[in-house]
Amino acid sequence: MTNVKDDILVVGGGGREHAIVWALKKSPRVGKIYGAPGNAGMGVIETGLSATDIDGIVKFASSHPEIKMTVVAPDDPLGMGLVDKLEAAGVRAFGPKKAAARLEWSKAYAKDFMKKYGIPTAAYETFTDAKEAKEYVKTCELPVVLKADGLALGKGVLICNTRDEALQGVDDIMTDKKFGDAGSVLVVEQFLTGYEVSLLAFVDGKNYSLMPTSCDHKRALDGDKGLNTGGMGAYSPCPKFTEGVKALVEKSVVTPTVDGMIKEGAPFKGVLYFGLMVSADNSKVNVLEYNARFGDPETQSVLPLLESDLYDAFDAVIDGTLDKAEIKWSDKKSINVVLASGGYPLSYKKGLIIDGLENTDEKVNVFFAGVKKCPDCGKLVTSGGRVLCVQALADDFGTAKRLVYDNIKKITFEDCFYRKDIGAKL
Ligand code: AMP
Ligand code: GLY
Repeated sequence: MTNVKDDILVVGGGGREHAIVWALKKSPRVGKIYGAPGNAGMGVIETGLSATDIDGIVKFASSHPEIKMTVVAPDDPLGMGLVDKLEAAGVRAFGPKKAAARLEWSKAYAKDFMKKYGIPTAAYETFTDAKEAKEYVKTCELPVVLKADGLALGKGVLICNTRDEALQGVDDIMTDKKFGDAGSVLVVEQFLTGYEVSLLAFVDGKNYSLMPTSCDHKRALDGDKGLNTGGMGAYSPCPKFTEGVKALVEKSVVTPTVDGMIKEGAPFKGVLYFGLMVSADNSKVNVLEYNARFGDPETQSVLPLLESDLYDAFDAVIDGTLDKAEIKWSDKKSINVVLASGGYPLSYKKGLIIDGLENTDEKVNVFFAGVKKCPDCGKLVTSGGRVLCVQALADDFGTAKRLVYDNIKKITFEDCFYRKDIGAKL
């Protein structure tokens, strides 16, 4: 037996990637972890490579043979075909290839895929012409949902309550290109009601293994008010999601998706994220969206529940041996709350000193996102909208929530804000 450990390169630099790194570090098989770019709080060797520097990442990974796996976490490099390019260069990579990641990078493709394979989703029409889209929204039921086809940092969705809002929305997306080229194609969708849940699964092409469910909080302010953000906190698992509805989702959504991608000639390997809308009585499920990766901030609540080795799970996904892998989850309850820069998701100050980190309880995890090291004082300073999150695990949600909120009070930076109601409905 050799005891040489494997080094890993993780692409991405947010709270999700910190949680992945934190979980990988628990593996006795893992050595050094590099970040592209990583961040100053997550305890990786920062390479200075951005997550979308595709050629730079391929070059770095292929010139460091001690790096045994490159984990591609964010949507952009997946959509740019980073995994295809790494594999072509002989680098072992975790994440779907571009053709499989299309489930996320084209909403129109995802909708057509669901229609083709009978996977339940909201009724929709797709448009490439703003005039035609407007004629259509004049006739459809309200509220109506408008979605830019491409990647738009999770912001390319408009829920329009009036006809005027819908007409304006078509112009915003298609004519004024508020979400850039993502809006060249528009999906107009029926509005669904119920509760939302995120379900993540390891998928190895043909087999899958579900993770515990989770719930994101997308709006900036308490009571689901304010602007849409990348996510202000999450908890896992979702108590409303019963074994019965899980069986329904496996049969009507997960299995046909995995099998459908094989039929499409684009088997999905990586983490597949099902954004689901479930009816209040748990009798109906619809897919709101697919993501071709771990969710952020769901991952920061879900991965602390993993009791087995994440690196082993990644290996099983790459090798197509998930059916033989033992992936174990705790039945504890997990919550994370994001601390954001005042003004986020619009403009905010950067470079503010973060104090009090050393006072936090050992029982909580702090996962860093928008942070840098101050070259003068050596302390961490803010450098993004979502700065960090505090996460805790306990036997019950009440205790986990108390731990998180008690510890948040110990961390300070100017203009810091966070939601006070993550998990309030539990
Ligand atoms: P998406 O990026 O597709 O997940 O959309 C972002 C958010 O918009 C979702 O998390 C939902 O809250 C909401 N949403 C998307 N599609 C629908 C729909 N058809 N009906 C109701 N809400 C929706
Ligand atoms: N939390 C939603 C996402 O990662 O897209």
